[in-house]
Amino acid sequence: MYTYKMPTELFCGRGAATKVGEKVLELGGKKAFITTDKGVLGAGLLKGIEESLKDANVPYVVFDEVESDPSIETVEKGTELLKESGCDIVIGIGGGSAMDTAKAVATMGTNPGKIFDYIGIDKVKNKALPVIELPTTAGTGSEATYWAVLTDKKTKFKTGVGGWLMMPTLAIVDPLLTKTLPPKVTAFTGMDALTHAMESYVCKATQPISEGLAIHSMKLIARSLRKAVANGDDINAREDMIMGSLIAAMAFNVTRLGLAHALVSPLGANFGVPHGAGNAILLPHVMEFNIMAVPEKFIEIAKIFGENVDNMSEMEAAYKAVEAVKKLMKDIGITQGLEEYGVTEESLRPIAEEAYKSGNVAVNPRKSTVEDLMDITRKAMKGIK
Ligand SMILES: [Fe+2]
Repeated sequence: MYTYKMPTELFCGRGAATKVGEKVLELGGKKAFITTDKGVLGAGLLKGIEESLKDANVPYVVFDEVESDPSIETVEKGTELLKESGCDIVIGIGGGSAMDTAKAVATMGTNPGKIFDYIGIDKVKNKALPVIELPTTAGTGSEATYWAVLTDKKTKFKTGVGGWLMMPTLAIVDPLLTKTLPPKVTAFTGMDALTHAMESYVCKATQPISEGLAIHSMKLIARSLRKAVANGDDINAREDMIMGSLIAAMAFNVTRLGLAHALVSPLGANFGVPHGAGNAILLPHVMEFNIMAVPEKFIEIAKIFGENVDNMSEMEAAYKAVEAVKKLMKDIGITQGLEEYGVTEESLRPIAEEAYKSGNVAVNPRKSTVEDLMDITRKAMKGIK
């Protein structure tokens, strides 16, 4: 038995972001609280949103202090400002950090106490304020998930608050918002989206609906990630990537992920490994580890990436998927290993032990131990040639 649930309304297409003012009114919003970061401001992406809100006569407040890997303190600061300002709808514009902060702040707008009280899944009691999410990167898929990933800066612990009551009300998915993303960020975030699709596709909790979504997401990413990195103005590629990211999130929000995502959180919190880069670096090694659990799935992945798997044994054909991902990483310039971020042999056990607490371990297709996680991380220390 399984359930597929996707309560977020999706409004997609080139220029969709210019309709945000109308959408606020449709949702009954009177005053909007915008969570964003300085990068979005610097890229001039807020301008169109502000114009749209002004045209619709919607007053708004901008909270632009979201940092990458947002902290619990930032959510508390945002919540205070939200309450002072009397806003009744939250708009998140940016990457995963700004969108996750929007969800967290909207949740604290209707729930007592501190965000820290709700760590985990389904701890939140009251439905969050309405949230509109506008992704400006094609990777996290936060616009279609119920998670807010937060970092406790003091303990360097990365954790999540999640549940259906935190699901965004509306996602406005406009590829034009991703046009100015530099190639490196396009590559990192694109690999995050690919890891979402792949981990969801092969995981134990996979089901026919999420599988269909994951396969389509991988097809879009396979045909367009190189193009989006090579030429950011290629709007067709940008559209494929932002839809690939959204659709992957629609898959993994009901299945969870796998070992790459389990490991990337402590690596990010302790060594500052960027989420997308970390997933990319880990992905081929996690794939190798998982292949023998579900070789038929990896053969499908190899085919999606255009590999010829004719006249091969099952395992040989499945390994073609790993080769395909390595080729992609090389082409888009992700050749570094974890040691370039300062990860050391001594840190492998604490990282693996922390990762092992993640809910993503239980759904990984192959059962694993802390030692397996150490082994995967050790292999990812060196980059790909
Ligand atoms: Fe991710």
